[in-house]
Amino acid sequence: MAKTVLVTGATGMVGCDVTKQLSRKGPAVRAGVRDRVKARKRFGDEIDLVPFDFEDVGSFGGALDGVGKVFLLPPLIPSQVELTNAFVDAAKRAGVRHVVKLSAIGADAAPPFTVGKWHAANEQHIRESGLGFTFLRPNSFMQNFITYFPPRDGAIYLPWGNGTASFVDTRDVASVAADVLTSDGHEGKIYTLTGPVALGIADVTRILAGATGRDINYVDVPEADARNGMLQAGIPTWQVDALLELHAINKQSCWSAVTSDVEKVTGKPPIDFAQFARDHVENFRSG
Ligand SMILES: NC(=O)c1ccc[n+]([C@@H]2O[C@H](COP(=O)([O-])OP(=O)(O)OC[C@H]3O[C@@H](n4cnc5c(N)ncnc54)[C@H](OP(=O)(O)O)[C@@H]3O)[C@@H](O)[C@H]2O)c1
Repeated sequence: MAKTVLVTGATGMVGCDVTKQLSRKGPAVRAGVRDRVKARKRFGDEIDLVPFDFEDVGSFGGALDGVGKVFLLPPLIPSQVELTNAFVDAAKRAGVRHVVKLSAIGADAAPPFTVGKWHAANEQHIRESGLGFTFLRPNSFMQNFITYFPPRDGAIYLPWGNGTASFVDTRDVASVAADVLTSDGHEGKIYTLTGPVALGIADVTRILAGATGRDINYVDVPEADARNGMLQAGIPTWQVDALLELHAINKQSCWSAVTSDVEKVTGKPPIDFAQFARDHVENFRSG
């Protein structure tokens, strides 16, 4: 029986850790990548690489050859639903047994936000495919404060009001994925992945200020200003709209509940924001 695990999104935040953790745990790992040079920088020569692009159906067959399990990280682009579903169909044809899909919190029956709707449509397609599946639905990543909204001029500008969320560290998301891909009992399960506590942005800036020893403040900006700022930064309009939907949901503290799913799967409590801040302090020393 095919034992190889194919990791998609392997050069990204979550997929990189999934790949490294799997390679330590023992199964044959194959990273499906668009950019070999970037992948070699991430993994050295340790990991088997295969050309893979969701936008190139012709790359699916080679990537899936001999694969038993897949870590599926859908590309965050407007054609996500069609491309990801086509890949799921190819996985089924190739004899894959289990798909562990990175989804998103709130991607249940009728998500009130665009990216949630895309993930829900992919989840539905996987259910209907008959493939074994596990859905991982993480809350907002702590790492978004590095990638999407880092401090600028000593402040984090977000239209969150006093909203809170139980941010999760991507390393925990990756640990859950790696454990699910290498142990039994996870088929048909849905894990909602959160950190250990709900935080507002004022809490986040206080923790980052403590870790760096510099002033970092929260500026609660009107939605229109957030929109203009993102557009001026060159973020495409569809993505700005999608991000503003998420900000509006978080302003209402809709995703502040804490779950025990990280610990249930990994046996370890989730990383807290103070630990995240310490581990990434160099990212917050300026800006
Ligand atoms: N950010 C959050 O707070 C949050 C919360 C819940 C769920 N999510 C979900 O998490 C996912 C993003 O995860 P992440 O932060 O780890 O992503 P990331 O760091 O942005 O990395 C994206 C990965 O996908 C690859 N990729 C992009 N387009 C591709 C394509 N056409 N074909 C093949 N590979 C492609 C990228 O490859 P290259 O290196 O070649 O670009 C990269 O490896 C999304 O599905 C998002 O909805 C995010």
